[in-house]
Amino acid sequence: MYTTRIFSGVKPTGHLTLGNYLGAIRRWVDVDQHRSDALFCVVDLHALTVDHDPGRVRRLSRQAATLLLAAGLEPELCTLFVQSHVDEHARLSYLLECVATDGEMRRMIQYREKAGRERERGGGVRLSLLTYPALMAADILAYRADEVPVGEDQRQHVELSRDLAVRFNQRYGQTFTVPRATQPTVAARVMDLQDPKSKMGKSHDSGSGIVYLLDEPEVIEKKFLRGVTDSGFDVSYDQEARPGVSNLLEILASCEGTTPQELSGEFSSYAALKRRTADAVVQLLKPVQERHRELAADPGHVDAVLRKGAERARERAKPTVDAAYRAIGLLPPM
Ligand code: TYM
Repeated sequence: MYTTRIFSGVKPTGHLTLGNYLGAIRRWVDVDQHRSDALFCVVDLHALTVDHDPGRVRRLSRQAATLLLAAGLEPELCTLFVQSHVDEHARLSYLLECVATDGEMRRMIQYREKAGRERERGGGVRLSLLTYPALMAADILAYRADEVPVGEDQRQHVELSRDLAVRFNQRYGQTFTVPRATQPTVAARVMDLQDPKSKMGKSHDSGSGIVYLLDEPEVIEKKFLRGVTDSGFDVSYDQEARPGVSNLLEILASCEGTTPQELSGEFSSYAALKRRTADAVVQLLKPVQERHRELAADPGHVDAVLRKGAERARERAKPTVDAAYRAIGLLPPM
């Protein structure tokens, strides 16, 4: 029996990227599933917060689950499931909307950025984009997770989940565990190769600066070799002054298990750094891609894993969510 509970998730809004892998998934596989009662979730409800194509969300959800298994999540060690298969997430989300304020939702950086983009496109902003962090808090709090392994961009959402847990417990009695975010020491924020001041994000429009986990080796090489470089020749680690080089050093350090500072002395040219980083990423992703090919040919196996995963997740979430319903003042069913 483990004493630590871990929860994390990935949203099927696009193909999974190197940022998802280095920032989150690799740690789930290498560390988290071995040392805790760990739950990993394809958070499909979150994919409905922006303009979406129903068939694509379905395909991407299955693909994300397949890739997580290909990356090395083991159903005997952890619980892998799809969010919409477990009603407790949506049930709890509403209660947390009754604990959160609209001001704290509007302060979320991701909301401001994404709502801005949606408005620029001329579309309306879905209300669910604003309430998204309440659903994310529900994902975490329903399981009484202690730790939430995420990339840097999700820290603010996890902070909000902490605030909501504390507030609920103070108002209505001890119900939730207060979770904390954990981050990798390197590559917590992998940047776009074409625009190293922006995060490498799966739902961005242009794919040329984004490395997808299923990109062919030649495509990966091309993306690295054509990546934007900073002015000057010096290969030094300085995220402000040299974002392009620093991003490559972070990626390479993550692949090789070292630090960007240690690596920076090893290169006399940008080209050499790009080449070695591309090779390291190709090697890192090769076994994941091979395993993905095998698993994609056996969707029945993936379905069975998800079915079992949802059952296990439900068993864990229901008592806590029922307790929250009682604590907040709702009459239990007769
Ligand atoms: P999502 O799907 O955007 O990303 C999944 C995980 O990958 C990390 N990540 C990155 N890490 C480093 N560099 C990058 N460029 C990069 N891009 C993404 C993210 O930080 C994340 O850990 N809201 C979440 C999904 C979610 C969730 C949850 C996570 C919903 N409920 C509960 C944890 C717990 C999201 O959109 O992640």
